[in-house]
Amino acid sequence: MSATAINVPTGNSPEAIARFPFPFDADTYMYSTNVEEAERPRSNGVGEWGGRVYDVDEHYRFEIAERERVLAADPSRCQVLPHMRLAAWDVVEDATTRLSRDFPEHFSLEVRGDQRFWTNRLLGIEQAYTLLDDDTLPMEPFEWIVRQLQEDVELLDQRGDTLYFDAGILTFGADWSLDFDLGMSFLEIHGPVPRVHEMGVLPRAARFLARLPVGPIYRRTNWTMTVGRRLDTCTEVYHEWGPDRAGLRYEEIGERLHLRVEVQHFVRLPRSNAVMFPIHTYLASLDEICTVPAWAVRLERVLATLPQDLVDYKGLTRYLDMAVEWLRERNAARAG
Ligand code: HEM
Repeated sequence: MSATAINVPTGNSPEAIARFPFPFDADTYMYSTNVEEAERPRSNGVGEWGGRVYDVDEHYRFEIAERERVLAADPSRCQVLPHMRLAAWDVVEDATTRLSRDFPEHFSLEVRGDQRFWTNRLLGIEQAYTLLDDDTLPMEPFEWIVRQLQEDVELLDQRGDTLYFDAGILTFGADWSLDFDLGMSFLEIHGPVPRVHEMGVLPRAARFLARLPVGPIYRRTNWTMTVGRRLDTCTEVYHEWGPDRAGLRYEEIGERLHLRVEVQHFVRLPRSNAVMFPIHTYLASLDEICTVPAWAVRLERVLATLPQDLVDYKGLTRYLDMAVEWLRERNAARAG
């Protein structure tokens, strides 16, 4: 990707679609502890996704500006409890090290003992700082680095076998709230999710995360749908995006209804022993999904067979039948 390709406010180029993390590998969908090793590119049928923990794509500048806008309007979207200071510095080290290794054309990091010199060419940032010295950065370290990532990042502190959600930035959340969930345990956070407790998905995930070692990194995907190319669907601004679900018209579906996919990583941080949970949100309109016929057929089948409690929990109830009909019509027209 060339630097000039970056800064697209809306829509995906064909190159971005080729690296879209299309999440379905079967015609039906059910929750599972769908965790796999990370940093391994995965085929989506037309290209690959998933080579890196932090992804930088053509939406970088737009998404960084969008996070800035959301944080300015609502500073509660970034919160770091005092005991998470070491974990915050772990995130600074992890992100600057990986970004400069994975995208050397955009980022570089010079290391001399505890001294660092960071360059982010995409945002024009040059910053010298001393590791673990908050006063050498222009703002709180976690916020400083996450404002340079497309990912929202959540941090969980481990006490005994239990993980507690004690720091995070959430500007692109899929209908949840950092301010509401902060301080909760891993199982409490997932209280509203149907089936996962009875199915054993969550207890298995909790055991896996509590034993996650430093070194190997894992990932999973999650998905829902969003009306409009809108990243901030946090509960705090429900009044801005919730009504769109009821207002969606059939003829707008291709352009306005988006498949929203989160690529989530799990990383044990070395100094603090916290678990880091970066979430990268990708949006593709149904028109864009239809540029890959196999995706359009699969999405129609997944949506047509999605159990009602998942439909309701994901907030698809108002428009699901219309979306399935729209996909059926498009797929039949192509086949016929
Ligand atoms: C292997 C680990 C994990 C598994 C298997 C898992 C599973 C799930 C599932 C199935 C959902 C429902 C999603 C949907 O239908 O759209 C969900 C929602 C959610 N997950 Fe996780 N999750 C994991 C890790 C985490 C972590 C580390 C966090 C840390 C903050 C987290 C925070 C959430 C939140 C906030 C929700 C939304 C809950 C709500 O409706 O309020 N998850 N998770």
